[in-house]
Amino acid sequence: MSGNQDGIGVGLIGFGTIGTGVVKVLKDNAAEIEQRLGFPLRMVRIADLDQDTDRGVDLTDIRFDADASALIADPNVHIVIELIGGYDVPKKFILEAFEAGKHVVTANKALLAMYGREIFGTASEKGLDIAFEAAVGGGIPILRSLREGLAANQIETVLGILNGTTNYVLTEMESTGEDFDVVLKRAQDLGYAEADPTFDVEGIDAAHKLALLTTMAYGAEVVFEEIPTEGIRGLLPLDFELADDFGYKIKLLGVAKCHRGDGGTERIESRVQPTMVPKTSMLANVDGAMNAVEVIGNAVGPTLYYGAGAGEMPTASAVVGDLIEIAREIKRGEAGPVAPLSYLPQHIVPKETVPASEVLGRAYLRFTAKDEPGVLSRITGALGEEGVGIASVVQRESGTGADTVPVIVLTQTASEAALGAALEEIGKLAEVTEAPRVIRIEKDV
Ligand code: HSE
Repeated sequence: MSGNQDGIGVGLIGFGTIGTGVVKVLKDNAAEIEQRLGFPLRMVRIADLDQDTDRGVDLTDIRFDADASALIADPNVHIVIELIGGYDVPKKFILEAFEAGKHVVTANKALLAMYGREIFGTASEKGLDIAFEAAVGGGIPILRSLREGLAANQIETVLGILNGTTNYVLTEMESTGEDFDVVLKRAQDLGYAEADPTFDVEGIDAAHKLALLTTMAYGAEVVFEEIPTEGIRGLLPLDFELADDFGYKIKLLGVAKCHRGDGGTERIESRVQPTMVPKTSMLANVDGAMNAVEVIGNAVGPTLYYGAGAGEMPTASAVVGDLIEIAREIKRGEAGPVAPLSYLPQHIVPKETVPASEVLGRAYLRFTAKDEPGVLSRITGALGEEGVGIASVVQRESGTGADTVPVIVLTQTASEAALGAALEEIGKLAEVTEAPRVIRIEKDV
């Protein structure tokens, strides 16, 4: 597959928000792209079941129909972009594209996190490229940085704000005091959210991205379902108010760390959780749909990558960047040689994980308790029994005439195991009427 004198042809399956952005970038920046490549990169064909919606882009010279298989088979299409989302249908088309000898660009982190072994394995067998920069951090070239710029390092930590929708929701709730559902709807209207926004809200999208980052950072085969994951649903204005009082902001963080022991042993800790970070930290000031990822390498030290984590044009920027890289390789006759996950496939192996119970940290705990004498001491007593030290306690008056009140505790550093045992005991107290809300505190960001 070498392209022809008209340049490299691209076919797009899935003409939604990001696909529309890709068509715009290829058209608007055609001259710059050709100057960089030395030949044009053309969108020649698009497939989508929805033929009616006006996407507001010029489709002159682009064949647009609903036939994705015909697009894949079209000899003028050298690179297939998959932007459908979901699992079964895109997986079928990606494997069909490899079968037809086509390189693939996708933004589908859910698919890669779940079925990466098969997809990356097939691409490697066939000597084809699978590029997915848009899958993590929207427009931020974080995957290329990990795979190439930081390849000399033992990576110690990868940590960041990996989901634009939830960061937008948290930022807006904090600054406007609006309800969660109102703000989420706005994020969806702005084109940030996944087709199923549960993936954003429950932390699943961030966990998909963290799974890819963890594999690329440590050569670790990650079982996505085993990443401890908590979302942002159920956070209240009170949590933002108290976070502010205590000197923190609330962010949904994805964290992966490698615990290296004697004899070269490696254990991987990974999690996605709403987290309080000091107001003065850089991550606290990453607002709206922006993302930021910090990578600490043993040679380079801390590095930070910041940019738009979602949205039409930033995500299209990443997709087209992948197209350009593959087009260069096709012209050099060398497409497919770089390990897409940074490690060679045979070197991506299962690694021991650090059990959540061993993880140490501080936490903000919000209990809902009956407004009765002695409740506070029973809660703090249960924490003390398990060796969980207390840094601060606040009890608010209900102010609404309700017979329950919020009780807030900030803990000292404790293990998740000790905290879990204390919460189990507190859950048994008749005076505690709801499950507690736990927000971890990360000071070292
Ligand atoms: N729904 C994702 C987000 C889109 O909000 O970050 C970008 O992956």
